[in-house]
Amino acid sequence: MLCSAGRCLQPLGSEDIVLHELSPGLLKTNSETAMGEIDWVEQWKRLVADRASLASGHADSGYWDRRASSYARSTQARSDEFLQVLQPYLSPRKTLIDVGAGTGRHTMPLAERLEWVTAVEPSEGMRAHIAQRDNITIVASTWEDAEVAPADLVICSHVMYGVADPVPFIDKMQRSARERVFVMMRESDLPHPAAELRRRLAGATGPRLPRFSELFMLLIQIGAAADVTFLRYPIVTRYAGMDEALIDCRALYGEGWDEEAARQALEEILIRDGDELVYDGGVALSGVAHWQPRTSS
Ligand SMILES: C[S@@+](CC[C@H](N)C(=O)[O-])C[C@H]1O[C@@H](n2cnc3c(N)ncnc32)[C@H](O)[C@@H]1O
Repeated sequence: MLCSAGRCLQPLGSEDIVLHELSPGLLKTNSETAMGEIDWVEQWKRLVADRASLASGHADSGYWDRRASSYARSTQARSDEFLQVLQPYLSPRKTLIDVGAGTGRHTMPLAERLEWVTAVEPSEGMRAHIAQRDNITIVASTWEDAEVAPADLVICSHVMYGVADPVPFIDKMQRSARERVFVMMRESDLPHPAAELRRRLAGATGPRLPRFSELFMLLIQIGAAADVTFLRYPIVTRYAGMDEALIDCRALYGEGWDEEAARQALEEILIRDGDELVYDGGVALSGVAHWQPRTSS
């Protein structure tokens, strides 16, 4: 390994990755773990598999098709400051890939600030909310299967919870980003009414989703030293009515769903706001990991 002035070249496969300003203690990290250390890649895979055994919502585009309207309504007024983390890297001459763009809540404002945005989104229902603009390309695909040209920046916001094989997913983002990758995930638990329903009706929320801190450790393990910004913001989930709430919660609840008991509990949990039913998920803590993935030198 070559190190000088805090910059080290670590051979990983056929390409070199530059790790910026890593302390010497961290430079021993690579894709293998020493005995007794946690293998964060395996830990991630276990969490995703356990969660999928309960409910496959996050990786299932059918789930996002059904949830799209509620998601769009719930997030349109959300102010999570993710765009402020991106701000120093934006310029009208740069391009960006939005991995798992959802309803386009980041794609659309970013297209006003950048030369071009490519939104990769597998769910037709979610894609339908992304506005057509001359400088937005929408790719109907998962990230794993997407064929897209590299861009200056790659973002991936609240997508990775259901990604079963995280290393190729992250590697592809690294290969696709000329300048910087940004990945946002929640650190706090899923603030969704289905979790509250499970707590009330089944006595436990069931297997959890992977957390931001686990992503961060996984990144260290594969040789990416990310800068981190934490964001706190209120999360509300909005439904057009009880039927939409039931469909959404059933998909995430998993085994043992009792429609009548769920309806009764949701009547207590959800608050009416005009013609919508609203779940107040409190304040979520999320992290944004961002790093310069590779330098050809
Ligand atoms: C919680 S939404 C986040 C959407 C958007 N990034 C945002 O922050 O509002 C998760 C999105 O990731 C998409 N998704 C899930 N697995 C994916 C994959 N393997 N590749 C690309 N997108 C994926 C889903 O279809 C869904 O639209």
